Parts: sequence; structure tokens; C-alpha cells
Amino acid sequence: MGFLWLVTWLLVITQFLMLVSVTQSKVPAIIVFGDSSVDTGNNNRISTVLKSNFRPYGRDFTGGVPSGRFSNGRLPPDFISHGFGLKPTIPAYLDPLYSIKDFATGVCFASAGTGYDNATSAVLNVIPLWKELEYYKEYQNKLRGYLGEEKANEILSEALYLLSLGTNDFLDNYYLLPGRRSQITVQQFEDFLIELAEDFIRKLYGLGGRKISITGLIPIGCLPLERTTNIREQRGCVKEYNNVAMEFNKKLEGNLVGKLNRELPSLKIVSANAYNIYNQIIRGPSLYGFEVVEKACCATGTVEIGYLCNQQSPFTCPDASKYVFWDAFHPTDKTNHIVTNYLLENILLPTFG
Ligand SMILES: *[C@@H]1O[C@H](CO)[C@@H](O)[C@H](O)[C@H]1NC(C)=O
Repeated sequence: MGFLWLVTWLLVITQFLMLVSVTQSKVPAIIVFGDSSVDTGNNNRISTVLKSNFRPYGRDFTGGVPSGRFSNGRLPPDFISHGFGLKPTIPAYLDPLYSIKDFATGVCFASAGTGYDNATSAVLNVIPLWKELEYYKEYQNKLRGYLGEEKANEILSEALYLLSLGTNDFLDNYYLLPGRRSQITVQQFEDFLIELAEDFIRKLYGLGGRKISITGLIPIGCLPLERTTNIREQRGCVKEYNNVAMEFNKKLEGNLVGKLNRELPSLKIVSANAYNIYNQIIRGPSLYGFEVVEKACCATGTVEIGYLCNQQSPFTCPDASKYVFWDAFHPTDKTNHIVTNYLLENILLPTFG
């Protein structure tokens, strides 16, 4: 009995200390750029077919709200915000329900379907990356109007910027359309994207961003949609895509992150590489409490993304927490939680917390 009490108290005290350490974090805001991996609802407000603001999306979100997140629940930026002691969800910049008062502690400019390459965002008529940065400039002006120049600038330089995209450049552009593929090799395309990423980060730095986390690619060959079309290998992961993902991440870390840290004074940029943790989950799903990894929860789980995953789909699974993937292209809330906790504990909190 005495021992159990001691253990219980130690747990309580540890949790309290952890809470204190997150609430004292030096990061006052989370500012997000990227694609559907981090879009918290901007696509709801633009004319594209790539949307998810209807059931069963958001089924396990607060209040069961289909917010436009491509998942049954929260996305990595939400968990990261919470991990830094800030609000539990990050609002989308284009959502009229929110104002600069809300955006002062976190805002999302991401758009599902976008990429580094302008040709990628053109495929489904979503927000190109350069335009996400234009929205960010507009936000800066609003923030200065709301808080005053000095306080706003402090927030903008102390904020943590999350950048997560690249998947669509390969899967919806390079490997799907004849354009880029007929001009350049996939290695040249990777280099082209790295140049675009560098250009973006230098611009963000020029605008005052100093703390940046960039996430490259996960094992994109293991997304259910890619398995579905991999009939030759009995719906296994597409090895070529996974190899490209690893190659791209290596270039991101070797040729970009290191270089920018050296060249740009007072910049701190980290690679929040999620490839390995995803790979572990995909290879040993049961170790993480999952039962299904090949197929997604929504509908048949093989091809459905956006409008194909809807309330009329009779086969949607009852318990998404048994699935690694929610729709054929996007992880469940539980996967996002596990992966983000890993990134928070190993990379983000030690660097920026
Ligand atoms: C992408 O489009 C924007 C706006 O038209 C343009 O400023 C930018 O140079 C383009 N990027 C590339 C790499 O062509």
C-alpha cells in the first residue's frame, strides 16, 4: 500500500512538472504551412474538389465536427500546439469564425493538395505555396495592427513555424502527370523541390521567421491508395516511392537544413523526419495497438479520399483507432498522435521548448 502511494505520488508530481515545463515554453505561437498533412480547414473556403468538411471526417474531433481536416480527429499541428502548452487546435486562416485575436497564438495557411511545385497546386486548383506566404504577409500586418509593432515582431520571431509538404509533388504530379516526368528524372525533380524549399525558407527568414521545423516525406509507397494500385506485388508497399521518400529526406537534411543553419544567423531549423516512426508503425502495427494497416477505415479503404469518403459509404469501420489510415491517403487521429508525440519528445521540445 505504502509503495503504491509513493508510485502514484511520483507519477502525479512528474506530470505536474511536465505540465509546468510545457506551459513555460518560449514558443508563443505555432504557424503552419503545407498540404493536407497539416491543413486544418483552408480548403473549405476555396473552389476545389479536394475537401473533407463533411461526415464521417471529423467523427472523433471535438464535438464530432468535420472541420476540413483530412482525418477523423486532430492533425500534427494541433498536437504540437498542445505539446507547447498552447491551445489544443490550430485554426485555419481562411475560416471566418476566427479572427486575429485567435490567430495570435497559432494559425494555419496550409492547403490540402498543394506542393512545392506550382504545377502540383494547379492539379486540383488549391493554394500554391507562394500564396500561403502572401497570406502570411497579410497576417503579419493584421498582427501588428492588433498587438502593435514591437509585440507582434516578438511573436513572429519567437513562433515555431511548421512546414509539411512534398507528397503531392510526387504522387499527384511527377508520377501521375506526363509533364515533369517527360522533362527530368526523379532525382532532378527532388533537387528542384529542394531548391524551392530553400527559396521558401529564405523568404520566411527574410520576413522574420527564426524557428522552423520542416517535415519531408513519410513512406508514401505504403499509403493505402498506392498499395491498391500495386497489383503486381499483391498490394505491398511501392518500393520505388519509399526509396524516393528516403532519398528526398536525405537531401532535405544533408543539403538544406545543415546549410541554412550555417548560413542564416540566429535561424534554428530542424528536420522533423517522420519516416522511421511511420515505418515502424507500418511494419509492426500491433505494437502500437493497431489491427489494420493495408486498408483505411473509411469506405472500402482502398481508394477513397475526399468526396468518395462520405456518409453514404456503408463499409466505414466503426473504430478508427484500430486503423493506421483514416482514408486512402491520410492517417487516423491515433497515428497522428503517436507520430507527433515522437517528434515532440525527440526533436521539437528539446530544440524549441
Ligand atoms: C510560381 O508562381 C509564382 C506566381 O506566379 C511565381 O512568382 C513563381 O516564380 C513560380 N515559381 C516557379 C518556380 O516557377
